[in-house]
Amino acid sequence: MLPPVANRFVAGETTPVALDHVRRMNDAGVKVILNRLGEHYTDGAAAAADADAYRQLLRDLDGSGLAACLSVKPSQLGLLVSESFYRERYRAVVEAAADHDAFVWSDMEDSTTTDATLDAFETVAREFPGRVGQCLQANLRRTRRDVERLADVPGKIRLVKGAYDEPSDVAYTRAEAVNESFRENLELLFQEYDGGIAVATHDPELIDYAKRLGETYDRDFEFQMLMGVREDAQRELAAGGYDVWQYAPYGRRWLAYFYRRIRERKGNLVFALRALVS
Ligand code: FDA
Repeated sequence: MLPPVANRFVAGETTPVALDHVRRMNDAGVKVILNRLGEHYTDGAAAAADADAYRQLLRDLDGSGLAACLSVKPSQLGLLVSESFYRERYRAVVEAAADHDAFVWSDMEDSTTTDATLDAFETVAREFPGRVGQCLQANLRRTRRDVERLADVPGKIRLVKGAYDEPSDVAYTRAEAVNESFRENLELLFQEYDGGIAVATHDPELIDYAKRLGETYDRDFEFQMLMGVREDAQRELAAGGYDVWQYAPYGRRWLAYFYRRIRERKGNLVFALRALVS
């Protein structure tokens, strides 16, 4: 069972428990992006098993009345096995999503995987228009070119700051430069991109900036935040009429994800310690 210290950030170890979480968030006006925890597989069988689990999840969601979609990681679906192995698994999950009237996001991992991830996204988005979305990272120097490349691809784009430590020739490393890149790329998306924009940050200044862009440009956009982070803000935005999605991981491989959230922010550590002693 998931220890209380982790269940702020992880929706549960099993699908039924995760779907209960979706139901609770939907009741609060927030939709949910489900990510089955798992990454960096070098074993094809593990990647194939997660692809099958995602297809089963799509069957479970179909007809459930729940407002939820999926987010997958390329290395979870076999990118480290081989690019073609990954493409087959990713396509199979998206094909199932199309059968079940659902939507699949692709997370973005470290910068050695960016080209392969975008190539697969572009191919699948053209085959299944409106069924897929792709994360881009504002900390990468290349991202402006990637936004321009994807301008006519029929999918959504999620912009994040970027969670991976990258060398300075590839990425901006100062927080101010990352924030500036986030603003510039977000504005470019609002100017150029028709497919739908996801503003994935907890940063109040960037959220306000996105609201202002939303008033200036006539574009479909949504806010995305992580489970356990600023949930009050998620509910407030939803109550204010914005489209809000919460990214909620679930499954048995929660330890690495939990440590990532703790490493990211001291406040999360304080919360975790409180949960341990209470
Ligand atoms: P940052 O961490 O800089 O925080 C900015 C401000 O937000 C803080 O100063 C504070 O005001 C507020 N804040 C942040 N955390 C808070 C907390 N716990 N409590 C209160 N206030 C808080 N990354 C990646 O590389 N690939 C991916 O595919 C994804 N996918 C993804 C999906 C979604 C839906 C989200 C929200 C994020 C990702 N990320 C990601 C992670 C992303 O790159 C980034 O690491 C985190 O979102 C943290 O960055 P912030 O934008 O929140 O800003």
